[in-house]
Amino acid sequence: MTVGITLTKFLLEEQRRHPNSTGNFTALFSDLVVAAKIISREINRAGLIDILGATGAKNIQGEEVQKLDEFANSAIINAMEHGGHLAGMASEEMDEIIKVSACYPTGNYLLLFDPLDGSSNIDVNVSVGTIFSILKCSSGGNASTKDFLQKGASQVCSGYVIYGSSTMLVYTTGNGVHGFTLDPSVGEFLLSHENIKTPEKGKIYSINEGNSKHWLPGTVEYVKKIKTQDSDRTARYVGSLVADFHRNLLKGGIFLYPIDKKSSKGKLRLLYEANPLAFIAEQAGGMASTGLARILDVEPIELHQRTPLIIGSKLDVKEAETCLKAHEAGQAAS
Ligand code: AHG
Ligand code: MN
Ligand code: MN
Repeated sequence: MTVGITLTKFLLEEQRRHPNSTGNFTALFSDLVVAAKIISREINRAGLIDILGATGAKNIQGEEVQKLDEFANSAIINAMEHGGHLAGMASEEMDEIIKVSACYPTGNYLLLFDPLDGSSNIDVNVSVGTIFSILKCSSGGNASTKDFLQKGASQVCSGYVIYGSSTMLVYTTGNGVHGFTLDPSVGEFLLSHENIKTPEKGKIYSINEGNSKHWLPGTVEYVKKIKTQDSDRTARYVGSLVADFHRNLLKGGIFLYPIDKKSSKGKLRLLYEANPLAFIAEQAGGMASTGLARILDVEPIELHQRTPLIIGSKLDVKEAETCLKAHEAGQAAS
């Protein structure tokens, strides 16, 4: 562990390695980090706000305590909008893209985000996260929806913030995956996990087994196969994608949210969840697949498109793909 390198310093050093850099990306990222700190503070106070809210101490003007996912959504928009580096934003929480207000300049980046992933876990004090993806916008001025419909391989940066026992920010710009832990006493993210590499194979499998009655035969067979193999497996499923992904990234394993009879397109969102995590997974030496194809090669056709997601250690994802592909081929032949 390298002690004492702040995220700001790390970003500046990265920037200096690119002599043609304008500094726009670094400035944009710094704004995002401010949003992450604000959300982190609010999440840490979530239980307390309920107590204060119940006594009326918080809601002195009779205002409703804002739901945390709405809070996170506005915190990101407010922190990013003024900077002049964005041509637009898109949030999992909003039907339409977010245009930059006319009073602010625009830039040539696009930000896509899931402001609070795993939000059903907040009330029970389980880790949640923020996921983000940054793209370049080819057209000038305010972006339109079609500018956001780029495949994941075009991302210039992606990452997530996990609000857990500590707050961590993990990101990639295509030059490895780096993790920073928030030191609340100084209010800075410090480099704690440099150049994260995920194990080639892991013990953990993460899938919502409650859905097993809806599973397609390929998923049934894969799960049965890994449970009966000689090598030991262990099941872990928090229900916050960020938390499940982060644990498996560090320890090795596979996360699956496949197509099933209930969700014929999958549940997770391509642009806000699958693409950013797929970029991280690949940069860490792992893999991300729809079951049949590489996530980062999927051409999006709509903003809130859903996708099946199978992500994690390379050999595990390959094994799952083989099983799912074999069933797909069998079905096509019959
Ligand atoms: P979100 O809270 O952003 O809507 O995402 C919830 C997602 C994801 O975090 C998690 O992996 C998945 O939903 C869990 O779904 P199930 O409860 O269907 O297993
Ligand atoms: Mn989510
Ligand atoms: Mn969400």
